[in-house]
Amino acid sequence: MQAKKQWFENWFDTKYYHILYQHRNDDEAHFFMNNLVDYLKIPENSEILDLACGKGRHSVFLNQKALDITGLDLSAQSIAHAKQFENKSLHFDVHDMREVYPKKFDYVFNLFTSFGYFEDDAENLKTIQAMKAMLKQRGVLVIDFLNATKVINNLVLSEKKELNGIYFSINREVENGFIVKNIQFEDEGEFYHFQERVKALNLSDFKVFFEKAGLRLKETFGNFALEAYNKESSDRLIMILETA
Ligand SMILES: C[S@@+](CC[C@H](N)C(=O)[O-])C[C@H]1O[C@@H](n2cnc3c(N)ncnc32)[C@H](O)[C@@H]1O
Repeated sequence: MQAKKQWFENWFDTKYYHILYQHRNDDEAHFFMNNLVDYLKIPENSEILDLACGKGRHSVFLNQKALDITGLDLSAQSIAHAKQFENKSLHFDVHDMREVYPKKFDYVFNLFTSFGYFEDDAENLKTIQAMKAMLKQRGVLVIDFLNATKVINNLVLSEKKELNGIYFSINREVENGFIVKNIQFEDEGEFYHFQERVKALNLSDFKVFFEKAGLRLKETFGNFALEAYNKESSDRLIMILETA
């Protein structure tokens, strides 16, 4: 019997995920990437992995800055979309981030809360270990995660949104250490219920993974302007790591 698909294998591969998040701010993503490239002083032609790249919004922008980009994602639909942008220094592939891709990079980026989806911490650790294994010597890893403390303290319990004629009803809760978002709607007579489950990982949780994986935390930032991280007030938890 085939194993039941996990939420992240289904939800991100639907058209509804892209409808719900269509207002995601590209200007903000470009602002973040400009700041990151400047801070890291990334030389032209560096090889960068955008791990869990979605439809490739960061990849395409980084490639325009003369960087060689590989975008990987589990969602076949998202990669099929991203492939239209491919060129000799921009490639996309379907890949599970828990596994090591057969290429090494100067930088590995994991952006916009593309982590913490697995129920079992062994799989989170395996993912961090895979990230390290895909780095060249003296490579740099960047993980851009939500700031769990702030999200939990300011949890919007219930929300309704109409997008493309679909009425989304969204409910959030914290359950067994996971920030859970229930997304329900009806489309063409069918009722849908999807769930996003992101582990409420704090900096101290990440530090355990980094220690085990042999990665050194060099810097933390709290937003896309790369200002200092503050556990209570920062919007993001952005971690810059080097191979130890
Ligand atoms: C919140 S989205 C962010 C996408 C992209 N980084 C962006 O900023 O637009 C998370 C992405 O992680 C991908 N994903 C989920 N589980 C994955 C896995 N096990 N391996 C690779 N990608 C995965 C999803 O398909 C989705 O595209």
